[in-house]
Amino acid sequence: MAKKLYIKTYGCQMNVYDSARMADVLAPLGYAPSATAEDADMVILNTCHIREKAAEKVFSELGRLRPLKTRKGERGEPMILAVAGCVAQAEGAEILARAPFVDIVLGPQTYHRLPEMVARAARAGSQVLDTEFPAEGKFDFLPEAAAPQGVSAFLSVQEGCDKFCTFCVVPYTRGAEFSRPAAAVVAEARRLVAQGAREITLLGQNVNAWRGGDGGFGGLLRALAAIEGLERLRYTTSHPLDVDDALIAAHRELPALMPFLHLPVQSGSDAMLAAMNRRHRADDYRRIIERLSAARPDIAFSSDFIVGFPGESDKDFAATLALIREIGFAQAFSFKYSKRPGTPAAALPEQVPEAVKAERLAALQALLAEQQRRFNAAALGREMAVLFEKRGRHKGQLAGRSPYLQAVHAEAPEALIGTVAPVRITALLPNSLTGEIATARTEAAQ
Ligand code: SAH
Ligand code: SF4
Ligand code: F3S
Repeated sequence: MAKKLYIKTYGCQMNVYDSARMADVLAPLGYAPSATAEDADMVILNTCHIREKAAEKVFSELGRLRPLKTRKGERGEPMILAVAGCVAQAEGAEILARAPFVDIVLGPQTYHRLPEMVARAARAGSQVLDTEFPAEGKFDFLPEAAAPQGVSAFLSVQEGCDKFCTFCVVPYTRGAEFSRPAAAVVAEARRLVAQGAREITLLGQNVNAWRGGDGGFGGLLRALAAIEGLERLRYTTSHPLDVDDALIAAHRELPALMPFLHLPVQSGSDAMLAAMNRRHRADDYRRIIERLSAARPDIAFSSDFIVGFPGESDKDFAATLALIREIGFAQAFSFKYSKRPGTPAAALPEQVPEAVKAERLAALQALLAEQQRRFNAAALGREMAVLFEKRGRHKGQLAGRSPYLQAVHAEAPEALIGTVAPVRITALLPNSLTGEIATARTEAAQ
């Protein structure tokens, strides 16, 4: 009998990918996706541990789900409740203790074993915990059959992190760096394209540290760009240390590789970068940006910033603002430093007061918002190549993305879904661009 599965996803795109794969793993057991927890036979929370706020969400969501599970149980409709992802990995035992109504706790590296966990939970009626880093890689056990992701798809190629930035939980929650073999990546990319994907975003905590084949990550991009029907390639998240010559060459030579790169720098202060164990200086970052810009003159950048890292002075913070002014970002994410249990920075003595963090974050975000506004405004009147993904909110309208991941709406026939078309941008909205199909000068589209 058909059962319903509801997955709620927090955190990064890796978790979005993992959620889709968990659904694929459970499909042979008869679980079909459900839009709400209310009518689900199984609920999975796929969690994120990156900052304190992210981790707290799990327990409040569990608090909401508990009465639902009780009610359903009383009606004779048992609901399996599972907690997956990075909070599960970091705090598995604590979740089981604090929330005894949770049936399954599993880490990001064990979800290929979900069918057996479900069977065990049902059989024994007791809690199941599986947060190992198993010797067998999950990718070898995931089903080939996958629900289609649509025009724009994610493909996980690398997992884990060996960098150990002093603020970050990822090396502990995701484990050591692991690269999927090139052949497996290419085969999955081909399947995605056969299912209608025209854009693939390669995912990894350190995606450009990929070492699953000859030629490094640049070589992998080259192999993927050759797949017929694949119009656009992106990757995230990359680390400045792993930007090598082959990757820069890929940006120069592969038109399918989009001219938009998320390259987190975290800070513009060398003292902070050293304390963060980033293993690059602000100038190294500047050089990389210069080299990428020379290779692909239309490239734009996005980044991540942390303010209020322990010991950050006004001068350190000013260096971050200066770096931002110098480079100019199309978009960025910025966060107040959040103390994470077990990470080296959490034990540092000079923690920055909350009020100072808040003030710095506001100043930084004002600058970044202004740069983003200017970047979007520069699109006005220009023609951009838009990959249409789906129907827009208004009738007759389609929604798509520019090369810079800007959301673009335009009146266009549905036949254009899954194709790249030139769009002249006619208006700026707060979170998107509006345009019209530019038929006359198609050669300007790419
Ligand atoms: N692997 C990527 C991103 C990891 S997490 C990288 O190396 O850049 C995404 C972002 O969350 C980080 O880039 C960082 O800016 C932020 N982050 C991670 N840990 C944090 C913490 N303890 N406090 C605040 N922000 C944090
Ligand atoms: Fe975290 Fe640093 Fe690894 Fe990125 S590179 S995942 S910030 S430890
Ligand atoms: Fe969060 Fe884990 Fe991703 S901590 S950001 S879900 S790798």
